[in-house]
Amino acid sequence: MNDVRAKPSTEVQASALRREALEKKLSTRRYGRSMEVHETVDSTMDLAQEACRRGAADGHIVWADAQRSGRGTRGRAWLSPPGEDLYLSLVARPGLTLAELPPITLAAGLAVADAIATIGDYETDAVRIKWPNDVWIARKKCAGILVESSSVGESPEAVIIGIGINVNRRFIDEEIAASATSMSLSSAGMRRFDRVALLASLLDRLESWIDVLATRGTSTIAGALEPRLALLGEPARVDTRDGVVRGVDAQGALLFETQYGLEHLQAGRLEPLVDPS
Ligand code: BTN
Repeated sequence: MNDVRAKPSTEVQASALRREALEKKLSTRRYGRSMEVHETVDSTMDLAQEACRRGAADGHIVWADAQRSGRGTRGRAWLSPPGEDLYLSLVARPGLTLAELPPITLAAGLAVADAIATIGDYETDAVRIKWPNDVWIARKKCAGILVESSSVGESPEAVIIGIGINVNRRFIDEEIAASATSMSLSSAGMRRFDRVALLASLLDRLESWIDVLATRGTSTIAGALEPRLALLGEPARVDTRDGVVRGVDAQGALLFETQYGLEHLQAGRLEPLVDPS
């Protein structure tokens, strides 16, 4: 699916090599079996949206080595330098209705956490999911998930799941250094990780957790998520409210205990209130 016409041959070769390497490691039935591999793009989200409109299959991925305008949640930018990290967008057609789709972010979070824990070999419990869409290693953000619905009014709905993982980067911008990390920076001896192996593991876990969501429902995802939740039992802030994180309910809403009682939050930006370290 790569458009090779206008690209320098070195770029084409690099993409072709990465595609070949991934194909060799794939263990999935559907995810990643259709793929576009690029060197530099504006955002993999835009290309996945286009692929979706063209009728891309469930599990189609757009994988780039770098992004010029990677985007995160709440209109923030996602820095995407070349050669170090993982940037991909997945077209998922899980056969869920629009109302059933939001917990897919949590299923993707479980998949990202599984893949990072498997490849990274961190201490037990170091890899955690910060509800609803971040993955932390040792209390610092290492990965983010951005879910966008497809603009075509289809039923069942398609979604685009964008995932960025800081894999091998050694430098983090000063202003976010206290709260962000990479797999390499968090590893003993600052190891370099094989991005292809990580992506193959990630696709395997995504296919598996999204199938769990589709067949067994949100409560199974919520049950798997709760023990791996960051900030569980700790004081925290969600937007402007202070409270304590108590878990997630069967619908995947955050259970947040405030002065008004136990609230079930559907959305919001969760942050630690104090750093106990
Ligand atoms: C967040 O934590 O704010 C979500 C970040 C999502 C970043 C990924 S990188 C691949 C895909 N393409 C984008 O432009 N964004 C997502």
